Amino acid sequence: MDHRLQHEAGPPLPRAPNPAAIALKGRERLRAWQLTHVSSFSENSRKRTGLITVMVRRRESDNAAHQLCDPELSDDENRRLFRKCVDLHGHKYVLEVVVAGEVDPATGYVMDLKFLSDVMGRRVIRDVDHRNLNTDVSWLEGPIPTVKNLVRTFWERLQPELPAGLLRSVRVWETDKNWAEVDGRG
Ligand code: NI
Repeated sequence: MDHRLQHEAGPPLPRAPNPAAIALKGRERLRAWQLTHVSSFSENSRKRTGLITVMVRRRESDNAAHQLCDPELSDDENRRLFRKCVDLHGHKYVLEVVVAGEVDPATGYVMDLKFLSDVMGRRVIRDVDHRNLNTDVSWLEGPIPTVKNLVRTFWERLQPELPAGLLRSVRVWETDKNWAEVDGRG
């Protein structure tokens, strides 16, 4: 039997190390790996994330006072309609905003939550915290400051400040049990 032929039919020998690769160290080796792997990985990641809508939620809180009364009605009528809420009282309100969109493959964000927090603070919280909602906030003048009216006005103040199409919902918690919400989907 020809010993040389038997050897050639066996499993392939491991490839000899590439001297050029051995010479690369540390950052150079990482860079070489990135050049051959990262671009295709990012492309796959982009395809995957593009198919999924992610919702991001941010809460901010404030303390404020209000009373429910219609100045056009008598005291008795107001008390019958709004019961004990006719008297001035306070709540710890929680403003909850949801944005929804695709994850930006470059940043991993739908939206920077610091940006969202700043908008909520600048457009709503700063003006209402530790205020009487019936008398102290110019942009709340008019409608009775029920939680339903508050959430509609908060939506109107937030929506123009956020990137088009991302605002999904605005919710205001008046107590642990009661909240009202504007749903941006209709
Ligand atoms: Ni109340």
